[in-house]
Amino acid sequence: MKKIFLIGLPGSGKTTLAKEAAKTLQLTFIDLDAEIEKHEGKRIDQIFKDRGEANFREVEKNVLRDFCLSNQTFVMATGGGAPCFHNNIELMKQSGTVIFLDVPSKEIANRISKQSQNRPLLKNETEDSFKDRIEFLRSNRISYYKQAHFTLKGGNITSAVVIDTIKE
Ligand code: S3P
Repeated sequence: MKKIFLIGLPGSGKTTLAKEAAKTLQLTFIDLDAEIEKHEGKRIDQIFKDRGEANFREVEKNVLRDFCLSNQTFVMATGGGAPCFHNNIELMKQSGTVIFLDVPSKEIANRISKQSQNRPLLKNETEDSFKDRIEFLRSNRISYYKQAHFTLKGGNITSAVVIDTIKE
């Protein structure tokens, strides 16, 4: 077993499921956003605020590339935009297995409407505009997400299903 990458929209469960799968499979869990924060000594929302999205994407690419080129094995929760910038999706696919968590926008909007202040790209949304914003992100990103080796669909993807997919 090698490098596993979970991709999908913010709120699709990447972190929770990657953590659970890593624990069961006795692999290292990596949270790409947390690694970026460690690398920069700053929170993600602060990086966006201070230097803008383009700079964040540059750092994201560099930190991701280091993991892809390393000898480490892991289950990684990526940031929602990670596969959609630079050649990140190609890089991930070449160095491991990529799994897309395809959760309906409505379910995502329900889940994250209460924690949007921590998510720079969703920060200024009211509850009503939330689902539309998620759908907009989804339509912009789906062509990247669809390139994953595996797609798991639904509002209730369990860690058992993720683990079975990894074992496959
Ligand atoms: C982003 C998602 C965030 C984080 C950053 C940008 C995005 O990660 O990487 O705020 O572009 O969708 P999560 O998907 O873990 O929220």
